Amino acid sequence: MGGATARVPAKINLHLGVGPLREDGYHELSTVFCAVSLYDDVTVRAADELAITVTGESSGEVPADPTNLAARGVLAVAEYAGRSETNVAIEIAKQIPVAGGMAGGSADAAGAMLAAARLWRVDLERETLMDLAAGLGSDVPFALLGGAALGTNRGEKLLPVLQRGELYWVMVVAKTGLSTPAVYHELDRLRAGRGETVPAPERPDELMVALASGDVHAVAPLLHNDLQPAALSLQPLLRRTLRAGKEAGALAGIVSGSGPTCAFLCADADAAIAVAAELSGLGVAKAVRTARGPVPGARLIPAHG
Ligand code: C5P
Repeated sequence: MGGATARVPAKINLHLGVGPLREDGYHELSTVFCAVSLYDDVTVRAADELAITVTGESSGEVPADPTNLAARGVLAVAEYAGRSETNVAIEIAKQIPVAGGMAGGSADAAGAMLAAARLWRVDLERETLMDLAAGLGSDVPFALLGGAALGTNRGEKLLPVLQRGELYWVMVVAKTGLSTPAVYHELDRLRAGRGETVPAPERPDELMVALASGDVHAVAPLLHNDLQPAALSLQPLLRRTLRAGKEAGALAGIVSGSGPTCAFLCADADAAIAVAAELSGLGVAKAVRTARGPVPGARLIPAHG
């Protein structure tokens, strides 16, 4: 029996503005996502029972059970299509760091949805797919869309952003992950400690103009992440990583999303290779990778195996 494979990119938040905690437990966001060239490949095939296998980067840390976001993606498609039989084998080949702030779990959910829909020949309209995706997690719609986009509400409402040219990154993957809810909670705690009234997050217009210009030197000083102080509070060693990236020649460095992966913007592809080589030698990280973006969102590729 054949299968279907989807390839899905990781994301970096070039800007992540976080508003106050809402009654539904989420925060209002104003964020600029950029899809980058680290990918998870998700294969779905017919099988005797629901089974998940994960290979590649940090695969041991991914739950291989129905709580896995990929399994939830498959079940969402089955439910939509009115299928009672959902026995499939899901294989995830991971490049995206686990619990790294690069939406790896969301990528797996997006990939599983596309692959399951192909396997079962379910005709999913783009809008339906995006709605189902938003139900699985705030970052899942962007994993489908890819490119560069402005995200609002929980991050699931998307508008494409014009980004001219490519940006070159070095991604430094930390030795231990961070839980996204824990980082948001830490941000709330830090803000409460300062007695801050938190305003609604503003649209980062200056950054969007810089992205449209294609000038990396204009983009670099505008990278911003409201979650960064919370991630640094939970993993103080990340300060050293951020400093090391700058010293190695990156134009700017930020914590990616809820972290702890750090993203360093470099002047060009050669500079990224040089910065990556320098950072690899320091032993501050589990892995150092180069990546470029924007790249397209989730898409079907010839089936694995
Ligand atoms: O939507 P998702 O399941 O990916 O979100 C994981 C967690 O991250 C949420 O339960 C919440 O704690 C936090 N979150 C948030 N505000 C957002 C998105 C996520 O507080 N806009």
